[in-house]
Amino acid sequence: MKILAIETSCDETAVAILEATGNLENPKFTVLGDSLYSQAHLHAEYGGVYPTLAKREHAKNLIPLLKTALQEAGLFEENPTELSEKTNKILEREPELLGQFIQIVSKMKIPDIDAIAVTQGPGLAPALWVGLNFAKALSINWNKSLIPINHMEGHVLSPLFKKGTKIKFPAISLLISGGHTQLVHVKDWFDYEIIGETKDDAVGEAFDKVARMLDLPYPGGPEISKLADIARSKELETDKSLPRPMKHSGDLNFSFSGLKTAVLYRVSGKKLDGIKKAKIAREFEDAVVDVLTSKTSEAIKQTKAKTLILGGGVIANKEIRKHMQILAHDLKIQLLMPEMKLATDNAIMIGIAGYMRFLDEKISPENIEGLKADGNLRL
Ligand code: KG4
Ligand code: ZN
Repeated sequence: MKILAIETSCDETAVAILEATGNLENPKFTVLGDSLYSQAHLHAEYGGVYPTLAKREHAKNLIPLLKTALQEAGLFEENPTELSEKTNKILEREPELLGQFIQIVSKMKIPDIDAIAVTQGPGLAPALWVGLNFAKALSINWNKSLIPINHMEGHVLSPLFKKGTKIKFPAISLLISGGHTQLVHVKDWFDYEIIGETKDDAVGEAFDKVARMLDLPYPGGPEISKLADIARSKELETDKSLPRPMKHSGDLNFSFSGLKTAVLYRVSGKKLDGIKKAKIAREFEDAVVDVLTSKTSEAIKQTKAKTLILGGGVIANKEIRKHMQILAHDLKIQLLMPEMKLATDNAIMIGIAGYMRFLDEKISPENIEGLKADGNLRL
């Protein structure tokens, strides 16, 4: 079947079209069309994602991205379609999107797709609403079933993109990005429990904030990581005095704000040269890796997990990946990681989750119009 997938939970606007076949044990995915616009550079000056701006950008870019994805998939044809009267009501809160919808979608032939999967939550509510309302409008006008997807499930299932991947249950998923830090106990297909999460900043957010203290550009994660690598390769002497917040808290939760504050004390009022910055970057990264691996290890032991699944933009971090590889090897469990393009927010993972839900028949919302976005949706 062909699935159109839409993702707008944060600062990436993404539309993808997947061809999906096979069953739960052996799904196969081919990307027919994929278009993504990252707003990250627009939010850079705010030091984080600015919800109103994100919503406006999603509304502006969704239809051009849809058109590009359909064209790439060879599914775009011009042919007038009469729009449903419900369109105005569904898109009344998104006037710019409604304007483009009336102008562009009304001239498109209904594409040969079977279902639409869309992120329902969690994320920034205004951003989620734009994507969901857009998906509802398409679903009603094109008479296609709509599959609401939990964004975190998208991250968990993203490694399935690689052919032959098998998740051995139970699994532990460590999801780390600019917006989330979670340990998810994946007991079986679609059976999740969040067993650990951050009490304050997300890991990526901590990287970004520490980078700002060191006058490094946004997003700061890759910059910190580069400097930390330099400190390691030059074998610069570092001390281990930065805290490992909640490492011994006895639960699986995280906290990164204390670590960030400790770095702030270390740097404030000092002139930092490249060497000093590299040392601090390494000390910070080491502290993060230490906490992440110890909590993940504990989660695996507690749940007797057979698979460790990593997801989120922070898995681009080499040191974190290296230590997760060592951990999985030591505990003799399978490690699954999506390719980087699927680790950061994207629509392909939403399509993958949509197909798995379709196979499990956990879809078909009876009331498409009444479907609500939920910024705090839990797995
Ligand atoms: O999943 P993602 O692309 O998007 C959002 O969360 O919105 O994750 C982005 C986060 C940013 O905080 C960025 O600094 C962090 O991932 N990041 C990294 C690295 N590459 C990206 N953090 C540490 N090391 C990296 N190499
Ligand atoms: Zn995400």
